[in-house]
Amino acid sequence: MTDTLEQIAAEVRVCTACDLHLNRIQAVPGAGNPNADILFIGEGPGFNEDKQGLPFVGRSGQYLEKLLALIDLTRADVFITNVVKNRPPDNRDPLPAEIAACAVYLDRQIAVIDPLVIVTLGRFSMARYFPNSKITQIHGKAKIENGRGYIPLFHPAAVLRNPTLEPQMQADVRSIPLVLEQVRAARTGENNPNAPTTTTQQDDDAPPIQLTLF
Ligand code: URA
Repeated sequence: MTDTLEQIAAEVRVCTACDLHLNRIQAVPGAGNPNADILFIGEGPGFNEDKQGLPFVGRSGQYLEKLLALIDLTRADVFITNVVKNRPPDNRDPLPAEIAACAVYLDRQIAVIDPLVIVTLGRFSMARYFPNSKITQIHGKAKIENGRGYIPLFHPAAVLRNPTLEPQMQADVRSIPLVLEQVRAARTGENNPNAPTTTTQQDDDAPPIQLTLF
């Protein structure tokens, strides 16, 4: 049977695989465009998300929407989810066992959406794709692996707490369309062995692309 986002969400809503389910009002499977090119992965639901059952609907979410507007996107254009789908008590960091228990859902969501680019928000989603890395060192440094781009961003809440990160956050967000184009070009090149090699064209006022292919 073909997996669907609705099926995954239905299972997440009744999941008891870790203790986070004990305190939830609602699980937060994720929301957005099921055919999105860009998938955003945050950390875990907070107070407002737990109440509404939707990701990034509190202050961090309002800020994320402003960031998306910088690249002419709305939340309806992308898909947004988290590494853990239930709110950790008092917004504490998710535990490794909780992240592991929820990974099966995230893996399935990624398989169904098949995004061109995954944007990680904060340390916990970053660790999936950039293990043993420090976000202060690698934020905005994209990689393309197996035809998919990965861009590590600061968590929006971290920028709200520390506004000196705001210019870096904006520059990192503005690199998303550039990485998307790189991925599209890479995939087109793969499908067409005669396609000319693509190079990144950068506007003079565009942020540096910082693309590393590892
Ligand atoms: N912070 C997150 O990481 N995820 C949410 O859904 C909300 C706030």
